[in-house]
Amino acid sequence: MTFRARHLLGIEHLAPDEITTLLDLADTYAEANRKGAAPRDVLAGMSQINMFFENSTRTQASFELAGKRLGADVMNMAMQASSVKKGETLIDTALTLNAMRPDLLVVRHPHSGAVDLLAQKVNCAVLNAGDGKHEHPTQALLDALTIRRAKGRLHRLSVAICGDISHSRVARSNIMLLGKMENRIRLIAPPTLMPSGVADFGCEVFDNMEEGLKDVDVVMMLRLQRERMDGGFIPSEREYYHRYGLDAAKLAHAKPDAIVMHPGPMNRGVEIDGEIADDINRSVIQEQVEMGVAVRMAAMDLLAQNLRTNRDAA
Ligand code: NCD
Repeated sequence: MTFRARHLLGIEHLAPDEITTLLDLADTYAEANRKGAAPRDVLAGMSQINMFFENSTRTQASFELAGKRLGADVMNMAMQASSVKKGETLIDTALTLNAMRPDLLVVRHPHSGAVDLLAQKVNCAVLNAGDGKHEHPTQALLDALTIRRAKGRLHRLSVAICGDISHSRVARSNIMLLGKMENRIRLIAPPTLMPSGVADFGCEVFDNMEEGLKDVDVVMMLRLQRERMDGGFIPSEREYYHRYGLDAAKLAHAKPDAIVMHPGPMNRGVEIDGEIADDINRSVIQEQVEMGVAVRMAAMDLLAQNLRTNRDAA
C-alpha cells in the first residue's frame, strides 16, 4: 500500500501510485456498500467534523455517510448558524474546533487556498471538499473510479471536459488527475469560460462541441457556476444550450460507447439535455454519486491510518 499524504488537499500533491492505492481501496468499499457490509471498526473511536461554508448536497451527505459507515462519530457544523456570522475568522474557528481534538476535518470554503491554510493550523487530517475555483480532490477521485469501472482502465482514454471550465474546481482537479494517469484531455468551452493560461494545462482546447467531442471515450459536463461570475459570460442560457448543451446530436460525435458524466447539481436544458442525463445506457451520473461514498470512505481510511502511525511515532 502506498499512500503517504497527511491531508487530502488537492490532486496536485498526489502521486499516481497514491491515486491507484486509493481507487483500489474505494473499489472494495463500493462492493461492500452494495452488500451493506462496510467494516464499522475502521474509524471507530474517531471523530469527524464537517465544516461546509458553501452549499452542498451530495458532497456533504456522502462525507457524512462515509464516516458513519466506517464507524466514526460525525458532526456537521451548521456554518450558517456559527460564530463565523459574528465575525470570527476561519482560522479562529478552526483553532477552536482543533482544541476539541477531532481526527478528521472535512472543509468546503468559497476561497481558493483557504483549506490549505487551515490544514497548517490544526493537528488532525484535513480533507478538502472544494475550495473556491481551486481544487475538489474527492470529486476527481470519484470521477476517476467511475471511469475506471466503466472503461476497465484509467489511462490512454480521450476525455472531454465541457462548459464553464474557468470557474470550476472540478475541472482543475480532473485535469490534474487524468493528466497524471496519462489520458488525453480536451477542454471545450466558449472563449469567455476558458481560463487564461489554459495553454499550460497540456490539454487540447476547442470552442466547438462537434469538433471537441470527436471520438472521445468520456464526456464530462460542467454546470455554469453563476455564483462565481460577476458579469455576462454567456449571451443567454438558450444560446448557451444551443451551442454547448449536450444533446443527442452533439453526443453522436463521441465514440458510440462514450459515457456521459456530470458532477451535479445539474441544470437540465442549460448544459445538458434531460433525456441524455437519464439515459442509463450512456449516463453514469448516478454511479458517480455512488462512487462518491466509496471514495470518501477510502480517503478517510487511508488518512486515519497515517494519522495513527504519526501519533504512535510522536
Ligand atoms: C461541484 C462543486 O461544488 O464544485 N459539485 C459537487 O461537489 N458535486 C460542481 C458544481 O457545483 O457545479
